[in-house]
Amino acid sequence: MLLQPWIQDLASPDLSISSLNLSIRILKPEPLKLEPLKLGTETEEYQDALKLDPSNTLVILCDAAVVSPPLLNSSNPWATSEADLLSLYASPHTGAVTIRTSLWSAFSQHASTHQYTFFSPSLGHATSTVDTETYAEGRGEVRDGETSSLNTLGYSPNSFEEYITMLVRLHTSGKLNSPTPKPFIVSVTGTADEVGRCYAYLSKTMSENEGLELMMEVNLSCPNIPSKPPPAYDATSLSEYISAIAKYRNESSGKLLHVGIKTPPYIYHGQFRSLLDALESSTSHEGGCPISFITATNTLGSCLVLAADGTPALGSATGEGIGGLAGDALHPLALGNVKTIRAMLNASPHASIRAISIIGIGGVRDASGYKRMAGVGASAVGIGTALGREGVSIFTKIARGLEETETDGP
Ligand SMILES: Cc1cc2nc3c(=O)[nH]c(=O)nc-3n(C[C@H](O)[C@H](O)[C@H](O)COP(=O)(O)O)c2cc1C
Repeated sequence: MLLQPWIQDLASPDLSISSLNLSIRILKPEPLKLEPLKLGTETEEYQDALKLDPSNTLVILCDAAVVSPPLLNSSNPWATSEADLLSLYASPHTGAVTIRTSLWSAFSQHASTHQYTFFSPSLGHATSTVDTETYAEGRGEVRDGETSSLNTLGYSPNSFEEYITMLVRLHTSGKLNSPTPKPFIVSVTGTADEVGRCYAYLSKTMSENEGLELMMEVNLSCPNIPSKPPPAYDATSLSEYISAIAKYRNESSGKLLHVGIKTPPYIYHGQFRSLLDALESSTSHEGGCPISFITATNTLGSCLVLAADGTPALGSATGEGIGGLAGDALHPLALGNVKTIRAMLNASPHASIRAISIIGIGGVRDASGYKRMAGVGASAVGIGTALGREGVSIFTKIARGLEETETDGP
């Protein structure tokens, strides 16, 4: 039987923290001795802060979600199909499974214009061939040492509702009866209202399916949609999305969901400040800020990788082959983003903003990378490019590496 992830389900946003009747989720022994990511848990420090700042009484904080171990896949093409998701779920070293970003309508994908490749920045050009025959998108060949990636992909060819139908079917048929139950992080995007409707749908689905653990990650950072720049680069758009989520949360009679925002790599202070301003101003909504985690970062847009002959390595919707950069080449920027966001969250006058967790993503492919990401403030670490290159065994490799460093000492 799956254990219920939330500590407490509350119907009323008006209940104060002190009136909660909390129960503790019992976790199975973990393969990794790592501190799990706990969303919405009320630490003593946190409760004290709430007393000092009563405006921070939040509905979202009344339930807890646990990602244990705090290692998971990021939203990407290797988390598209049922087989992908089941294999990620079955790994004892993933604490949650993130699904590739979906929309209410399935994204129309073409192998000639939606592609990815792996490459080595030190070589300077791409060498791998892109397979446009076997998959709906062009998938890059894995070659030794090519540990960065560029992609011109959009979103999943499966719709949001198809994914939820799939999860409910897997849940009711007992296929999620793993010894290590874990949440699914459903990555969504679309207009602010569409994202709000995803919230309502997920909340209802969780209420109707006891034991199915769901969270929502709002992808506001895909760099590859020609008509739509990443909303998380724009303060007004960010606030619009956060407000829509708060509105649907407040109207929803279903279970409360933990919601995260997937951010793009920010490169100057004003961009970080806009994120914090949007989060802080959302504390004035009835029920408070609806965001409990930030996933940083997505790929860095406007990047171009050429083949040896000087032509773009990838096809793209614009024909220029410009896309999102990830893997090794993104790692320093991702570390800088996680460190900066963590510091700014910690400095917030609002306890609910300080309580936001970060899932750190960008160029992690071994235990050392995991430790660097955790060291700068990530409460959980996500893997994209390295999952594409190495498959689900990447999680075993990182777990073993962490165990070894634990045994050997620092
Ligand atoms: C081929 C590819 C496709 C991706 N698709 C998505 C996506 O659909 N949604 C999303 O939020 N992020 C997407 N990402 C971004 C990754 O989830 C991740 O944030 C980024 O690649 C940085 O992590 P990494 O360096 O471990 O790859 C994609 C990344 C890659 C490489």
